[in-house]
Amino acid sequence: MDLGKFLSLNLRLVKLRRFLGSLIYPIQRDRLARHHNSKISEPLITPGKILQVEQTSRGGKFSFEHAELEICFLTPDLVQIDWKPGVPPIPYGIVQQDWSEVETTFSKESDRSVVSSSALKVIVTANGSLEFQNTNGQTIRQELPPLHRSEEWIHQAQLRSKECIYGLGERATSLDLRKPKSKKQQIAAYRMWNSDRPGIYGSGVDPLYLCIPTYLSLDKSGSYLVFYENSYPATFSFTDVENSYPATFNFKDVATAAFEGGALRYYFTFGSPAEVLERYTQLTGRPLLPPRWALGYHQSRWGYETEEEVRKTVQGFETHNLPLSAIHLDIDCQKEFRAFTIDPDRFPKLGEFSQELAAKGVHLIAINSPGVKADPSSKLFLEGKAQEVFCRRADGKIVTAPVWSGWCAFPDFTNPLARHWWSRQYEYLLDLGISGFWHDMNEPAVLVLWGDRTLPAFTTLHHMESRGGDHREAHNVYGLLQARAGYEALCEYQPQHRPFIVARAGWAGLQRYAWTWTGDIETSWQGLRQTIPTILGMGLSGIPYSGSDIGGFKGNPSPELYIRWFQMSCFCPFFRTHCADNAKPRTPWSFGEPYLSIAREFLQLRYRLLPYFYTLAWEATQTGHPLMRPLFWYDYDDERLWDIDDAFFLGDALLVCPVVESGVRSRNVILPKGHWYNFWDDTLLEGENQITLDAPLEKIPLLVKAGKILSMEQEQKLVLHIYAPVTEDKGQEVQAKIQNSYTLYSDAGDGYGAWRLDKFRIVRNDNSLELSWEQQGNFAFPYQSVQIHLHGFQPSQAYIDGKEIALEDKYLECNPFEQVYFQGR
Ligand code: NOJ
Repeated sequence: MDLGKFLSLNLRLVKLRRFLGSLIYPIQRDRLARHHNSKISEPLITPGKILQVEQTSRGGKFSFEHAELEICFLTPDLVQIDWKPGVPPIPYGIVQQDWSEVETTFSKESDRSVVSSSALKVIVTANGSLEFQNTNGQTIRQELPPLHRSEEWIHQAQLRSKECIYGLGERATSLDLRKPKSKKQQIAAYRMWNSDRPGIYGSGVDPLYLCIPTYLSLDKSGSYLVFYENSYPATFSFTDVENSYPATFNFKDVATAAFEGGALRYYFTFGSPAEVLERYTQLTGRPLLPPRWALGYHQSRWGYETEEEVRKTVQGFETHNLPLSAIHLDIDCQKEFRAFTIDPDRFPKLGEFSQELAAKGVHLIAINSPGVKADPSSKLFLEGKAQEVFCRRADGKIVTAPVWSGWCAFPDFTNPLARHWWSRQYEYLLDLGISGFWHDMNEPAVLVLWGDRTLPAFTTLHHMESRGGDHREAHNVYGLLQARAGYEALCEYQPQHRPFIVARAGWAGLQRYAWTWTGDIETSWQGLRQTIPTILGMGLSGIPYSGSDIGGFKGNPSPELYIRWFQMSCFCPFFRTHCADNAKPRTPWSFGEPYLSIAREFLQLRYRLLPYFYTLAWEATQTGHPLMRPLFWYDYDDERLWDIDDAFFLGDALLVCPVVESGVRSRNVILPKGHWYNFWDDTLLEGENQITLDAPLEKIPLLVKAGKILSMEQEQKLVLHIYAPVTEDKGQEVQAKIQNSYTLYSDAGDGYGAWRLDKFRIVRNDNSLELSWEQQGNFAFPYQSVQIHLHGFQPSQAYIDGKEIALEDKYLECNPFEQVYFQGR
């Protein structure tokens, strides 16, 4: 039989087995669940009366009739609150455990106690309500006494009338979770339960693959962030839900977090969006610095059946003069879809092939799902069984469920042994030249015809670092812990390289190990529109590296939709075309001209912008700030910017305004304060204005903030685009001197060797512009020369380190300098 026939017969058999599995599994699951569906009839109780208070070194302890409360300052503006009873969390999300001392004071008044640091006051009332105030006495958050019943906790806080709420991980709604702008985006309650959305999802679908119980609140009377360290299933809502409190708590709107188990532990910090993200990522970990190539373009599809097909795709990039950094191998490369295998018939010489690609600068990424085929012919399964690393039931049976390869067992990543065992499996693929891993189906997802697409919640038992627990607690951290195992493997086996992992599921702290993407988003204009707030929301939940399948996952985008999606993704951290197995070929050249040329322009722009992207990636390691930022990021007092989610900042210089509607050739943009240059023609625009900008098919509106530097590279040259600060007219007075600075980060692009920071400072006076340069670090300057392009400033004379230079071109080309001085206006 020829290979083609053999493959198609096999495929049909696999599909039939998959169908049967997805029918039998939910029947079994529902039978098991029946024993646990006992409806709880106990009433919800409040903490009751306060019985005892006690000062502690970092705050205070409070005993109520029905609950215990502990308040613990980790820094003056970060406080940990613990309500018990309940199973305390295992700190999977947390990196920092040792905090320097914080000076706190404690005072007890008749009906309240006040625990304060130098920045924050927490007021605890006799019935267990909490109030957070800044040092000016301004209330930032007011909480109701939590409600408790059996294993459940319900926690509510007042919502101020204009307050906006962002975050909760990956959500298919508007940026402000409180006020979806369209009916389509409406989600009544946000669920915490990482969930596969097989093949397709659109706006309004909830939950998605990566839920994080963290939200950021923005309000004129003080902004804050709350992170609930509780991985149990939960429901969050931000509405005028009826609450069961006495009339004294007459809040119109409340934020509700209802957990189905665990203790009520949460962290509160306040300040600007940038400040709270800094604190949050100090607690849950800063994002890893990716290898530089990962910031280039990635090509993928489900359905690259053979090595030859991948080779042809890469050749297509060469033929069409398109840069490429990585190719992703979906499950087609695996032997019968089994984890950590390569099909020897389809990919016979992967080791050589990966070298061939590496010589062209193309990295291979291999997919990997956590399910291990539960089959005695599988060495991996037998090994895992012998080492007891799979999830089991109380009767000792290994839990199995159908995924691509058939009935699978699931490594229990809450067991350190299982993580270690799993991490050892990466070596084989690394040896074959695989550069990074794509963790798919790791919610974990299983194939079912109905109901919850994961392991049975109550009957799947987990190790939980020896203390034991069930899947309710382990589910949401499953993908996070798989990423941890993968990250540790890559660090161990390739210590000279930085790990690159893309994980579909995760939890708080995933940023330490992996990137993510928005999964099977629908192929539609609404799908494109949706990905902007989804990615921005992820960034505000601490996960800066995300992107979407360009063109949507399932189905075939029109050429226009593809190119608009491509233009938007050019400015997203993760820039990848991917699609389902039944989609038509989808590459930058699939749609012919003019789409190919437009895609090439944007690809080339992306690669020119790499120094800018890479510097933002480095900044993220220092601050936790996302690369893609909402419009309110710098200007959070301007309410008009609070719910804009069809435009975004890339770093602090570039404002990106994608086109997300069919046939549209211009769009409105609300400009934040300051002055802005049109990237395409240098027109100067006044901020705090709504304007309409041209958006022909080959362009999307891009604006650069006056006073900023866009660092680019081309042909071994560092290209600095200086966007002149705008000197304001101050009547007849001498105009003010304006200063701005920019720090560029460089290193070898991978590994952990030397680095350098190039710090540029611009000083603009009425008729001069000065650019000074200071260097720090040991990495040699990686460029042959420097080009300076001035925007918004016409130079008449130029001096480099005091020596006059002839101005012949539109730009100045030179060697590294200490100072360049331009005269002109
Ligand atoms: C589901 C993922 O979301 C998708 O990207 C992938 O192509 C398929 N699984 C097949 O592996």
